Amino acid sequence: MSDATRSAMTTGTPPLELAIILPTLNERENLAPLVARIDEALGTTGWEVLVVDDDSADGTSDEARRLALSDPRIRVIQRIGRRGLSGAAIEGFCATAAPHVAVMDADHQHDPGLLVAMLAAVKGGEADVAVASRFAEGASTQGWGRPDRERLSGIANALARKLTGVALSDPMSGYFLLRSDTARRLAPRLSGIGFKILLDLLATADAPLRVKEFPLNFAARRAGESKLDRAIALDFLAGLYDKSFGRIIPTRFALFGTVGALGVLVHMAILYVFLAVAGTNFSWSQALATFGAMTFNFWLNNFLTYRDRRLKTARQVLFGWASFVAACSIGAFANVAVATTLYERGLHEVLAALVGIGIGSVWNFALSSRFVWGRY
Ligand code: GDD
Ligand code: MN
Repeated sequence: MSDATRSAMTTGTPPLELAIILPTLNERENLAPLVARIDEALGTTGWEVLVVDDDSADGTSDEARRLALSDPRIRVIQRIGRRGLSGAAIEGFCATAAPHVAVMDADHQHDPGLLVAMLAAVKGGEADVAVASRFAEGASTQGWGRPDRERLSGIANALARKLTGVALSDPMSGYFLLRSDTARRLAPRLSGIGFKILLDLLATADAPLRVKEFPLNFAARRAGESKLDRAIALDFLAGLYDKSFGRIIPTRFALFGTVGALGVLVHMAILYVFLAVAGTNFSWSQALATFGAMTFNFWLNNFLTYRDRRLKTARQVLFGWASFVAACSIGAFANVAVATTLYERGLHEVLAALVGIGIGSVWNFALSSRFVWGRY
């Protein structure tokens, strides 16, 4: 007889089998009814709910504590100054003793009714990971009411399949279940950024994980609004980039580089306008383009690369932008000087500009990650 079974017999509580991790960001209203639905769905299975809350302004963590007072199966991890669905899930994997973990949205889009069958499939060795899929045979997204997001998901899934070789109808699903030791074993190698934690787990595993899909009737969110709407597309692309090159180039730099590449486009557009349309001379055009691209890069890095440390108030943004420009001005100076020299020596203007940008961006990353978005 296992210790867990013995304890179950003496205390009357079933042994802990499953931890349901609920990453939350402003889900206060959704919590109590979801826990009730989970409880009902799991019946006699021993479970606990781990609310991993990123310090929601609506008091989600207080609500979780309130529920935990009368039901110790509910636990809460309140994270200060941190952000991200993947990171929250990983935190959950590492904070439970349950042999199995499930991750699901806290907004009632994921039906807890699937949990028992998902657990049985993994427990019985039928699969390593049980995935609730919005796009598997028999699933439906009719209740979602978001054709835009549905389309985006379709494209993202196809792309993810191509790049990772994982054949799944819904690799971006946020609802899945696996053994917690497997999750913890892979955790140190996960990127921990963004929302595509399942894809990350599958792509990181050395031996391919066996997956069983469960058709999900993806519902509309119960209360509040989606947190993934805004950064989702860029976040996804950055994540794929990270999976392909992440071992060589660290995630943060990969994101910074992706933003930088977009900045090059902005740079070229501005350069073109001044050079060809306004007839400004090259070094002025290059300087103005650099300044414009710098502002664009600050904005996008704040939005994407450093979204977990995003500068938010007008004051923070203003100071952040000023220090970004200051940190980059050394790089910008080298950029303009080198580009101008090369241009005057007869190098094509596009190539001259690119070399300047390359030299500038190394400075930008080194200084700004420390002085603009660094921890004080
Ligand atoms: N702790 C924490 N930190 N939780 C977060 C964060 C965060 O930064 N961002 C979102 N969440 C929580 C939300 O509160 C919710 O419980 C869950 O994570 C999913 O976020 P939603 O805002 O509900 O995402 P969605 O419904 O738009 O996105 C759906 O599709 C994605 C793929 O397209 C979900 O099913 C996702 O899980 C899925 O990855
Ligand atoms: Mn959701």
